[in-house]
Formats: sequence, C-alpha cells, structure tokens
Amino acid sequence: MAKFVGAFAASHAPLIARDWPLLTEARRNEMTAAYRELGRRMDAVAPDVIIELSPDHWVNFFLDNLPSICIGVGDAHEGPPEPFMQKFPYRPIKGHAALGQHIAATALARDFEPSISHRLTLDHGFCIPLWKMELASLPPLVPIIVNDLEPPMLSVRRCFAWGRLLAAAIASSPDPNLRVAILATGGLSHSIGEPNMGAIDEGFDHACIRAFTDGAEAPLVDFLEARMAGAGNGTHEVRNWVIAHAAAGNRGFDLIDYRAVPEVYVGCGFASWRV
Ligand SMILES: [Fe+2]
Repeated sequence: MAKFVGAFAASHAPLIARDWPLLTEARRNEMTAAYRELGRRMDAVAPDVIIELSPDHWVNFFLDNLPSICIGVGDAHEGPPEPFMQKFPYRPIKGHAALGQHIAATALARDFEPSISHRLTLDHGFCIPLWKMELASLPPLVPIIVNDLEPPMLSVRRCFAWGRLLAAAIASSPDPNLRVAILATGGLSHSIGEPNMGAIDEGFDHACIRAFTDGAEAPLVDFLEARMAGAGNGTHEVRNWVIAHAAAGNRGFDLIDYRAVPEVYVGCGFASWRV
C-alpha cells in the first residue's frame, strides 16, 4: 500500500513562459511566490512519484485520435516541444512505469477504460508548473492526459469517480514505501481562440474556489456543470482540479493564491489539499 502524501493544483498558460520578460516585476514576483509556495508544499511531503493531470494542447492527440483519458505508463516522456519552453530544465522526463501500469490495471478492473501511452510528449500544461515550482528535484511522473479541450468531455461527476479511482490505485499499489502526490494543472477561467479571447470570469473563479473550499460533491458538480462552459473554453481544465479534489476525499482544500492575470489571459489559481 503506497502512501498518498498530498494533492496540489496550479494554473498554466503559454504566456507565463513566452511573455515572462514582458510582465511587470510586481506581476512576476506574485506569480513566482505562488508557484514557489506550491513547490515548497510539494517538497515538504517528499513524493517519490507525482501523478500529474493535464490536458494535451494538440501535441499528442488531435481530432482524429482523441482519448478522454490517457495514462503515461512508460519509463520516460518527452519534454515540451513549444519554442517558448526550450529552457525547461528536465529532459527527458522520467516516468514511473510500475505505478502507471498499476493505475491502468486498477482502472480496467473497476470498469474504467483509459487509453495508455508508453511515451508521451508533455507540453506547457504539464511543464510550466513543474518548472516554476522550483522543486528540489523532480521525481518520476505518471502523466495523465485528460481531454479538457474538445467535446465530448468527461462529466464532472465522472471526474469525481476518477479521483476516487486514483486514491484507490495509490492505496492498492504493491510498493509499501512509495510516497505519491497528485498535481492537477489548468484553469481557472480563461478563453482561448474564441471571440472573447482573454476574458477572465472572476465571479466564476471566486464561486469555484468557494465550492472547492466547501468541498461537498453534489454542489460542486452542479455548479461546474451549470457554469463551467460559460466561463470560457479553457475553463474546462477545472476538471483536473476536480479529480485531485476527489482523490483527496473532497476535503482539505487550501487556497494558496488566486489572481486574475489579464496579461496571460488566465484566472490563475494555486491550491493544495491536506490528505
Ligand atoms: Fe491549458
């Protein structure tokens, strides 16, 4: 039985990397402080492996092949291909095949049908938080791609089920000494490639944070199913936060920071869960 040591969440945005030098010093300091605090909390629980949940921004998959969930089960994964991510310091990214395979097997045994990949390319969605958190060292990853980009997507209710499944897979892992953390990336509200591109729905974001803080499943499902799609197409990435929240037992949400950052088009949230 492995040990589930913590769950974490952070926003990502290409412009956090590409336009970093163009941000004001005050803005860079705010963002740096939030990512570093997330990294400090991650380091404090000393994970041996991180299960990371992110969308794929058309790097591994496209409309001709679009899994709802894909688990990276390989020993290594490629770093981000975007030109603005060239300085990402961890390449290739070490995977954790044993835990990835165990999660996939646990899923199938419980009537979930994920795709798997033995070598994924991890884009800015996975890598900006890993980069900006400035971890003492990067442990191996089990990357899990969640389709947050193109309908049909997982229902929010199903994201809760996936979170519980990940907790069960960690609990049933045969390595008793393995320390496992979950990191969800994406959200909060943002709109990309739409007529209202750049719009941030701060009202949605604050209500979303309240719903995570309250914790209960049904109100959070109802709120997100009613409001998420209207808060911008990128807001669908909040699904990853839901999976982390459910893995943590729907409780212990602790907001590190939230701020709307129009320069990067994203309502940026940072949080952890006590597990
Ligand atoms: Fe994204």
